[in-house]
Amino acid sequence: MIKPLRKAVLPVAGLGTRFLPATKAMPKEMLPVVDKPLIQYAVDEARAAGIEQFCLVTGRGKTALIDHFDIAFELEATLAERGKRDALVLLREEAMPPGSITTVRQQVPLGLGHAIWCARAFIGDDAFAILLPDDLVLSQTPCMQQLADVYHETGGNVLAVAEVPHEQTNRYGILDIGHADGNRVEVNGLVEKPAPKDAPSNLSVIGRYILLPEVVTFLSQMERGAGNEVQLTDAMAKMIGHTPFHGLKFEGKRFDCGDKIGFLEAQIAFALARPDLAPAVRDFLKLYANS
Ligand code: G1P
Repeated sequence: MIKPLRKAVLPVAGLGTRFLPATKAMPKEMLPVVDKPLIQYAVDEARAAGIEQFCLVTGRGKTALIDHFDIAFELEATLAERGKRDALVLLREEAMPPGSITTVRQQVPLGLGHAIWCARAFIGDDAFAILLPDDLVLSQTPCMQQLADVYHETGGNVLAVAEVPHEQTNRYGILDIGHADGNRVEVNGLVEKPAPKDAPSNLSVIGRYILLPEVVTFLSQMERGAGNEVQLTDAMAKMIGHTPFHGLKFEGKRFDCGDKIGFLEAQIAFALARPDLAPAVRDFLKLYANS
């Protein structure tokens, strides 16, 4: 029987050094794209796919992320007093049900695999989603919903995958591809950040996963991989052959918001997708294109 997908783990312990000084006193996941912080995009995308329980894997200096999902009583009272109805409605629409967010701390930065392992008590015996908030996806159907559709059919592990230029394979988890069926590919192997000459393909894992809980057993082995870190990719690779494993070439565009250019591109793309902002943005882009 295929278990329902209700849980998501969001690793948010990273330091965000590529965005200093912006991230000196603020978590990088609070950086806004247009008017919404990255963390909120990830949570909204997961909720749209029916996910109800969230575990944030945090670290020191990340309290703002937890406050962001709390009720800001004084703010709401002030908005009500000033008759700012639209702002109030916005806050209330995004409010999380009580008890839906839990946090654990990754005390030492030992890698993505270690961060997920820190959430093992939350994961328990359930299939779960992982969303890396640095990766933002603009699509018709939310990316996690697209993965959930495959999960509900196969009952196995599903990764969002996208082609990358061959010379960039050393930045991603890369697939060894098996049988392809439309946008869906069987995963025969996974390698974390291979040099282009060693890469089995140029199909990369982006920050959206649905995994079976068995991955925790492999993470517990705490084997060090690329960059001397405990890699999620290595633990996933050990599950191949035991449980269904698919990559989905999702519909949509992914923006790497952990990178300055990717982040700037996301600002433009998300603003252009907003009917209230698009005309003005188009106008100023024309101005800059000619300068
Ligand atoms: C992580 C994963 C990698 C994946 C990438 C997607 O790498 O380890 O397999 O392709 O996220 O963004 P990181 O970006 O944390 O180095």
